[in-house]
Amino acid sequence: MPAAITDDDIRFMEHALALARKGIGLASPNPTVGCIIVRNDEAIGNNRTVRNSEIVGEGFHQYDGRDHAEIVALKTSGERARGATLYVTLEPCNHTGRTGPCTEAIISAGISRVVAAMEDPNPKNSGRGFERLRSAGIEVVTGVCEPAARQLNEGFAKWIRTGRPFVTLKSALTLDGWLALPAQKSAARKNARREWITSEESRAEVQRMRHASDALLTGIGTILADDPLLTDRSGLPRRRKLLRVILDSRLRLSPESRIVQTADDDLLVFTLASLQSPKARQLQNAGVELVRAHSSGARFACRRIDLSSVLQELGRRDILSVLLEAGPSLNASALAASVIDKFALFFAPKFAATPIGQSPAGSSRSASRPRRPSSRVLHRAASSAEPALPLFGTLPASPRQSSRADRLLSGFPALRILSVRQIGPDVLLEAAFPNR
Ligand SMILES: NC(=O)c1ccc[n+]([C@@H]2O[C@H](COP(=O)([O-])OP(=O)(O)OC[C@H]3O[C@@H](n4cnc5c(N)ncnc54)[C@H](OP(=O)(O)O)[C@@H]3O)[C@@H](O)[C@H]2O)c1
Ligand SMILES: [Zn+2]
Repeated sequence: MPAAITDDDIRFMEHALALARKGIGLASPNPTVGCIIVRNDEAIGNNRTVRNSEIVGEGFHQYDGRDHAEIVALKTSGERARGATLYVTLEPCNHTGRTGPCTEAIISAGISRVVAAMEDPNPKNSGRGFERLRSAGIEVVTGVCEPAARQLNEGFAKWIRTGRPFVTLKSALTLDGWLALPAQKSAARKNARREWITSEESRAEVQRMRHASDALLTGIGTILADDPLLTDRSGLPRRRKLLRVILDSRLRLSPESRIVQTADDDLLVFTLASLQSPKARQLQNAGVELVRAHSSGARFACRRIDLSSVLQELGRRDILSVLLEAGPSLNASALAASVIDKFALFFAPKFAATPIGQSPAGSSRSASRPRRPSSRVLHRAASSAEPALPLFGTLPASPRQSSRADRLLSGFPALRILSVRQIGPDVLLEAAFPNR
């Protein structure tokens, strides 16, 4: 019979999860894990039994600290761990890696009950830690607060099973689904500029998402249009810099751009262009790492950087999670290549109300003369006559990719909603394709 889960178990596991979150940015490429040790003492007074629970040890894992969360917690509790319950957000390891197995440390510390949120996502280890603890006579309860624990280690789980990072497509959108408002030209500004779609509060949340990611991926279109920094400005600690990754087939990246100017061993550009050209050397001298990418698409005109091999390479570099912050072109390629694990869509309470192909507000072109929809519209850098842009541009024409996209979208399957939260005036919707 499965052991009973108590309200206290849930409360203490939430505490362990809060501890684990302190390891975000510090644990990768290891999983993010928190642990607490709780003593339950019973005292009899006035003919009543009074139960008293006390946290005697706690810890979370940091890659540089080496010790797993369980060991940190056991070290802080010392002898008081004997007979206590250990709460841990991930199955304790039963193998020797950089450290000895946590199961043996738990057994020799005399822990009598282990409550875990989830099993080890590595199929090679899954269940082994629990087995070992049970064989030593320890009561083991699993699955407490499991969804929250899974979410915390979705990057690690994907990477350890596939060697590729977990990809979250993040976008800021209007309620009618546009990710860039029409560029507005003002008397004070020579060049047309796009306004922010979402609020300051949402932009702060994006910084937290960057903090929780190992890499940020974008296309050269976004760099040319916005000249962004794409750094983690959350102010929270991280052991490796956020790796900024740009897909730029023809090496259009300017050495003068802010992203190149701030390169510090954290800027990777995948390209199909020669790495021997003067432009390539100029970028390399400015601190940009250039990688020759594989291409998808047979004909020269539709040659594109192959996303699947980009993700493979990032996985090889111990990148567990990628935040995709791109424009419609790369978003469409990612959709077609079926590499998106999760959507994080920030909806601002506004409408852009510019049908594609129609002249944007403020442009000299007459709104009554709609332009034919063209994928070119989506690939231009910002100019004075820039229309609003949709979340996805034209899907790539390669038959292999479009059939994948067709399969994904056939029947317009409802996304699985993971969470809906109000952030300032905006709404953040997190969702995934069904059966992912
Ligand atoms: N609201 C938001 O959250 C948000 C976020 C990001 C961007 N944006 C907006 O999006 C706009 C830019 O859109 P965009 O579509 O031009 O930018 P993009 O998707 O970031 O970049 C597209 C470019 O990336 C290059 N690329 C390389 N490999 C690719 C591949 N496999 N698939 C697709 N593209 C690949 C292509 O140029 P080459 O062929 O030359 O390599 C392509 O033109 C800007 O206005 C920006 O403000 C909005
Ligand atoms: Zn361990």
